[in-house]
Amino acid sequence: MTQDFRSARFWAAELMEGALYPGARAVDATMGNGHDTLWLCRQVGPAGRVYAFDVQGEAVARTRALLEKEGLADIVELFLDGHENMAARVKEPVDAVMFNLGWLPGALHGVTTLTETTLRAVDAALLLLKPEGLLTVCVYPGHEEGSREEAALLQWASNLDEGRYDALLKRYLNQPNHPPLMIAVKRKKQKRHLS
Ligand SMILES: C[S@@+](CC[C@H](N)C(=O)[O-])C[C@H]1O[C@@H](n2cnc3c(N)ncnc32)[C@H](O)[C@@H]1O
Repeated sequence: MTQDFRSARFWAAELMEGALYPGARAVDATMGNGHDTLWLCRQVGPAGRVYAFDVQGEAVARTRALLEKEGLADIVELFLDGHENMAARVKEPVDAVMFNLGWLPGALHGVTTLTETTLRAVDAALLLLKPEGLLTVCVYPGHEEGSREEAALLQWASNLDEGRYDALLKRYLNQPNHPPLMIAVKRKKQKRHLS
């Protein structure tokens, strides 16, 4: 029996599994209800560290409650702040940065990620990545701002320096209603310079 193709979030997690290990450092750029933060904490374990961002107090509260329930609150730093300010908050290189754009599930559709700040944040995230570090972005083009983010991020990723990064796109080609897509960027291994 063949497996179905699954979803953008699954594709991101599948790639992330290859980038994370016990003791790794990771960023959840959009904590929402905390499911991705929790998943990252489980991947990095007690020797690791996860930094998570959201602009909504409700998201931070839900995530904190979830991590406390799971006994993983010590691994994580939760910031009530925009991911575009990541560089000021995260003071060490990281193995992985995960973005899951859009709205907070289960809340009013008032606060969504915005193209301008998303672009600033993915740029900041690239600067934090260790060599061979991974960035994933799940994009939801089924709403107006999501469609703008899709166009801007595809352009951004297509223009990354091929000597320093590999950029990947995974998406459905034949489904209605603009299904989510996944963009992944891997920082290449540093080349050794001969002197
Ligand atoms: C689709 S949800 C994330 C889902 C989440 N990863 C989870 O596992 O439940 C997107 C989140 O991005 C947040 N967000 C919007 N603008 C943001 C910004 N500038 N920085 C960080 N988070 C932001 C929203 O408040 C929302 O909670």
